[in-house]
Amino acid sequence: MTITHDVQTGVSAQAQGKAPIIEVRNAAKRFAVNGQSLTVFDGISCSIPQGAFLSIVGPSGCGKSTLLKLISGLEAPSGGEILFNGAKVTGPAEGMIYVFQQYTKSIFPWRTVIQNIEFGLNSHKKLGKRERDELCRHYVKLVGLEGYEHYFPYQLSGGMQQRVVIARALICEPSVLLMDEPFSAVDALTRAILQELILKIWQTIPVTILFVTHDVEEAVFLSSRIISLTKSPAKIHEDVVIDLPYPRDQITTRADEKFHGLRQQLFASIFLQEKGGAPSAPRS
Ligand SMILES: Nc1ncnc2c1ncn2[C@@H]1O[C@H](COP(=O)(O)OP(=O)(O)OP(=O)(O)O)[C@@H](O)[C@H]1O
Ligand SMILES: [Mg+2]
Repeated sequence: MTITHDVQTGVSAQAQGKAPIIEVRNAAKRFAVNGQSLTVFDGISCSIPQGAFLSIVGPSGCGKSTLLKLISGLEAPSGGEILFNGAKVTGPAEGMIYVFQQYTKSIFPWRTVIQNIEFGLNSHKKLGKRERDELCRHYVKLVGLEGYEHYFPYQLSGGMQQRVVIARALICEPSVLLMDEPFSAVDALTRAILQELILKIWQTIPVTILFVTHDVEEAVFLSSRIISLTKSPAKIHEDVVIDLPYPRDQITTRADEKFHGLRQQLFASIFLQEKGGAPSAPRS
């Protein structure tokens, strides 16, 4: 199956007219630090349609990971609420999978590639051995790890380890995949290949992806929509539909003038904030 996306709205054809899969309503998060209250954000609202590839960008420490954790149910909001398929999120919800920023720590070193991937099935399905094996083989193939099934993590490159993590997350058939800087630890070329891989997956299976990155170029290349946050206490500064056509690839998409315009606009906005200057006027 190939999933097509409306370039004006970023919404997949299958999701047109459907209710948003995630709604963030007036979310606030405060932490107690050394006896003082730190407000990361207060009053963030957004609505994420099914099938979107939405990236969250913004200056370091502005609250990107915190927002993702709130959406996943790993952290509770201090105010407001998060809805997943119309139901309030009160803890980790079935159907949402979170891929952590330091992903290598989540791989079991004593398990092979296939055993790591199969672990993703444990809490989700009671399947017979043959069905489990078939599913594992399917996801091994989807992430391009055929031939490496019986390798241990220490025998893999960083990029291959990341493929294991992606396959293990996808084997649960989540409707939402939350990824926090998943490609930050690999070299530039591997990163470019993994970016194409995640796009190929997104266009093959019906999954909504929420993706945190500090790399604006990566966000523009991947996303149907980008939300940029201001410095802490964060507000949504820009909410931009990336109306570049899919399928995208590293050569054609990066040569598109519109790609450069969008990248420059978002980069300037975040860079000025990081430097302490006033953010540029948000786009409507
Ligand atoms: N568990 C916690 N306890 C106290 N403060 C926290 C906690 N988690 C995050 N923070 C604070 O919340 C703010 C936002 O952190 P967060 O990790 O969400 O930022 P970020 O935008 O993901 O940054 P980066 O780009 O560096 O990953 C920071 O000031 C951080 O110190
Ligand atoms: Mg972070």
